[in-house]
Formats: sequence, C-alpha cells, structure tokens
Amino acid sequence: MTSANWTLHRSFFWVLSPLLSGEEGHHVHVPVYASGSEVLQKLQEKWNSTKQQRYPAMYSSVVGGIVLDPSMMVIPIDDHMVHRGHGVFDTAMISDGYLYEVDSHLDRLLISAAKAKISSPFPRETLRAILVQMTAASKCRNGSIKYWLSAGPGDFLLSPKGCTGPAFYAVVVASGSGVDGAPAAGHARLREGVRAITSMVPMKHPFFAAMKSVNYLPNALAMAEAEERGAYASVWVDDAGDVAEGPMMNVAFVTGDGDLVVPAFDRVLSGCTARRLLALAPRLVDAGMLRSVSAASISATDAKRCAEMMFVGSGLPLLPIVEWDGKPVGDGRVGKIVLALFDMLCEDMKTSPERVIVPYD
Ligand SMILES: Cc1ncc(COP(=O)(O)O)c(C=O)c1O
Repeated sequence: MTSANWTLHRSFFWVLSPLLSGEEGHHVHVPVYASGSEVLQKLQEKWNSTKQQRYPAMYSSVVGGIVLDPSMMVIPIDDHMVHRGHGVFDTAMISDGYLYEVDSHLDRLLISAAKAKISSPFPRETLRAILVQMTAASKCRNGSIKYWLSAGPGDFLLSPKGCTGPAFYAVVVASGSGVDGAPAAGHARLREGVRAITSMVPMKHPFFAAMKSVNYLPNALAMAEAEERGAYASVWVDDAGDVAEGPMMNVAFVTGDGDLVVPAFDRVLSGCTARRLLALAPRLVDAGMLRSVSAASISATDAKRCAEMMFVGSGLPLLPIVEWDGKPVGDGRVGKIVLALFDMLCEDMKTSPERVIVPYD
C-alpha cells in the first residue's frame, strides 16, 4: 500500500468509526412536536429572531386566503414544485402604491405554466384580483410581488398525476430586499456602473430558458460565479457566439452608431422590462439620441465593440455595465444613453396608464 492510499484509508476509518459505534446518535435529542400550536410557537420564535419584517403578506390557494403572519407563510413539502421543481413563477414591482406591468408579468406566468403543463386553479382575472388584494392587505407601497403556479401538493412521485390539483402562491417583498438590495446601493451602481463577466456555467436549453420555471440552479450558479470573480453578474453567450442574457435580467447594447440592440428573445426569457424598453426607446430616436431600436442577434464580438452596455430587468430597471471580462465597455464610463433610458423607464413606472392602483384601506 502506498502512503497516499494509507492516508485515504485512515481518513475513511475516522469518518466511519463514530457512525459504527453510534456515538453521534447518543448525544442528539430530536424534539417531537405532536401539536400544531407547539410548531407554530417554534416557527414564530425562529422568525422573530431574524428581525426581518420583509414579507408583509402571502397568498396560498392551499389555505384559500391571505396570510399576514410570516411564520405561517409555508408551502406543503409534498408540493411538486418543492420536490421536483414542477412550478413556474413571475414577479412585478410595487411602485408608490401601484403595480407596474403586472398584466404582462401575469401573461408571461400563464405562458410559462402552459409550457410546463401546469394549469391554473383560477381564471386569469381571479389570479390578478388575488395579487391586487394581497398587495392591499400588505399595506406595502414599494417593493415587489412574487407568485408561483405549481402542479400542486400530492404524493412524492415524479408523475404529477398524484397531485391533488394545481396551486397558486404569492408573496409581497417589501423594498430593500429586491434584486438591487438597499436603495443606496442601487444609486451607487447607477452612478458608477457595474462589472460583468461571461458565464462559464452551461446555458439552459432555449426551451427551458424561455419559460420562467423554478429551476434556477444554472442562474444561481452563474450569479455565484460572478460574485466570486468580483463582478455584479454574468452574461451567457451561446454556442453560436451570440449574446443571450444574464441570470436574472436581459442585456442591451448601444453601438457606436447609436443603434440600441436587445438580444432577440428566441433563446432567452422574454423580459417584460426589455419589451417595455423596446416600446419606449423610439422616443430617443425621435429626439436624435439614437439611430435605431431593435431586438436582434448580436455576437459577443460585436457586442464587445459597443459604446454602452446595460442589464435590463424588473427592479433595476437598467444598470450600466462599464466593464466586461476585464475590458472597459466603450470609454469605461456610464454612458448618456443608458441614463436617458433609465430616466424614461423610471418615468414610465410613475405615469404608465397600464399601472394598476392598489386599493389600500
Ligand atoms: C433569466 C432572466 N432573464 C431576464 C429577466 C428579465 O425579465 P423581467 O424584465 O421581466 O424582469 C429575468 C427576470 O425575471 C430572468 O430571470
């Protein structure tokens, strides 16, 4: 036996020995809570110790109503979304007491659900009414709502046949805990811009990338990868060399000639913010600040020659990228087009006729 082998065997023995002797088990006392009230008390203690007051309301179709106690904001463990990832989700911003773009986010939720073979427990208008009433009950005026359609609770099998029926869950997340973290951090990022890297995490197949399912493991790994390398987020480039998207946002570019290009949505999530940007940006063409606006393929090589680059997504809504893979984007400073587009989207959040007023008491 070589010395390397011996080291391996020795450590194997040390790992195994406590298990064999049962020592571990002797010192562990696992409490058994037979009554729901004891469990509730434990959950409330746990929740209160976190001092987080960020989730002022939740809706659950399993409960059949709105829940205000955060310790009771739970999902059944046998829900197909929990143990098989068979669920889809979406989000929308609450801005000064209005829900912004909630209809396009709700439409996208239903498109994702159809692709994932999940039916809705309610008609679209009921889902919408639930979201509006939950937001009103939360009293939250700035933040976001997140909501899920799931194949629902049932058995623990892979087939959804054993599920008792689809479920709808939703939650309000108060401002300061969204995509962008604290508002002050958001302002600094807007002023200074952020760094991006090209992701090494394999991209999702277009079929899965185009639906907003709960399977965000590649996205979470892409985010972690960026943070480990000192970047704000990463960007996927597909096998053909074309720019795809970020892990929770789209990207957009301004060429040196003033063309705004958003990578086409055929292989990535059709972002509601990016679509709104495409609808509003022609105003900058009228103002002579841009030459054209389009959703089109753009290679990473061409993208890296652009004058400006930005992340686009709910909660940002735009974030200038000043460095990509260690090289400056344009002159390495926040550009004037991204700032003009940012102002335009912020104005839209305040004035869009499609905003939905929340009927607070
Ligand atoms: C993978 C991915 N791409 C793009 C987006 C941007 O979409 P939206 O503008 O609708 O937030 C998101 C955010 O949901 C996302 O998760």
